[in-house]
Amino acid sequence: MTANPTAARRPHLRAVGAAAAAAALAAGLVSATAATEAAAAERVDNPYEGADVYVNPEWSAKAAAEPGGEAIADQPTGVWLDRISAIEGNDSPTTGSMGLRDHLDEAVEQADGGELVFQVVIYNLPGRDCAALASNGELGPDELDRYENEYIDPIAEIISDPAYSDLRIVTTIEIDSLPNLVTNVGGRDTATPECDEMLANGNYVDGVGYALAQLGAIDNVYNYVDAGHHGWIGWEDNFSASAELFYEAANANGATPDDVHGFISNTANYSALEEEYFSIKDTVNGEPIRENSSWIDWNNYVDELSFAQAFREELVRQGFDPGVGMLIDTSRNGWGGPDRPTGPGPETSADEYVDEGRIDRRIHLGNWCNQAGAGLGERPTTAPEPGIDAYVWMKPPGESDGSSEEIPNDEGKGFDRMCDPAYEGNARNQNNMSGALPDAPVSGHWFSAQFQELLENAHPPL
Ligand code: BGC
Repeated sequence: MTANPTAARRPHLRAVGAAAAAAALAAGLVSATAATEAAAAERVDNPYEGADVYVNPEWSAKAAAEPGGEAIADQPTGVWLDRISAIEGNDSPTTGSMGLRDHLDEAVEQADGGELVFQVVIYNLPGRDCAALASNGELGPDELDRYENEYIDPIAEIISDPAYSDLRIVTTIEIDSLPNLVTNVGGRDTATPECDEMLANGNYVDGVGYALAQLGAIDNVYNYVDAGHHGWIGWEDNFSASAELFYEAANANGATPDDVHGFISNTANYSALEEEYFSIKDTVNGEPIRENSSWIDWNNYVDELSFAQAFREELVRQGFDPGVGMLIDTSRNGWGGPDRPTGPGPETSADEYVDEGRIDRRIHLGNWCNQAGAGLGERPTTAPEPGIDAYVWMKPPGESDGSSEEIPNDEGKGFDRMCDPAYEGNARNQNNMSGALPDAPVSGHWFSAQFQELLENAHPPL
């Protein structure tokens, strides 16, 4: 592997802060303390570098209470603010009792005077998750005002409290939103009326723009925008169009591209980090597997690492700062255990070669709910590869993606058949079986059987 160049990125930002502070000090304009503070307030290139990452005590306790769970209970996971009431803490099975302030106070304790990253997921757009039902939210498609005033503003107010100014606050912005406006709209057979509506009313773009602008105005916030995953926007038709749309959102509703520190891929998804036994360029019997394997199906990428690195470059081409960094959610993309291949598939046909050699054991790349056979992936790691700020566990392992049958709830969550193991699929997974585990609770609720399977199939193994 090549050495990580992240430290060399964005030198201008860091240099400007320190140089300006030094110049001001030399000119006798400010005291030494003020000059140091000015330098300290400057964002660093990679917030994970030289820092610990916050361990959510509520997730940690659930993990530790599971047989074998102690092995990972001290890992950092994302704190999801998935409803307005989650900001204060609502005692729901999803959020638990701690609100944002409780978490930040705890984070200051954990930092203990050192550097600490606090990872928070901003997840409450109007008309949330327009192509799926399992994570529909509380806000209707037109409730942009409530999103701004009752959700983003209070979060920004809490985060900007000087008591938290020494934390490095990594926000991940609105999972499963913008790519839907590229892939699940218009004349495509994957379109849904809900995504068409969110494209037409502009509230995903304006919501993301508002979140970026308000949170990006806080010096110690690092905004990372959700960038889907390779099995969603890796195809030619979706790749540049998504990057363009992200750039549009980064210029909407008060935001500028400077409010974007980076992007995150594979959040709460299962796409393998690296396919070890084939590459996109391989051929079988002289024919490219890219065109002939139904698993790859003309995608330009076969795994998350290659996708994230290439997408980073595309984002820069579209106008984002050359220093933007990527995060990859590796919480559940390990695919270890007995079914993990140990070598390439046979070169009898493109399908057999890919299907028998692939790490990702899903039935179809478009499957996303509580996938049977999945395992924990790479443990959270700082700057693992060029262009990658960190592997993170943004989705807390053990929390469901959606209920396998209809379960009434007060969280706005619907029942999506993609979470039903008996479902035979739709256009978005090309009518394949869902591959979901049975007996799953509402999304966000603790799913012990899945947690156990994730431990068993962890790769690297525990
Ligand atoms: C749910 C959220 C939950 C998150 C993390 C999402 O699928 O909709 O309520 O907080 O997963 O588990």
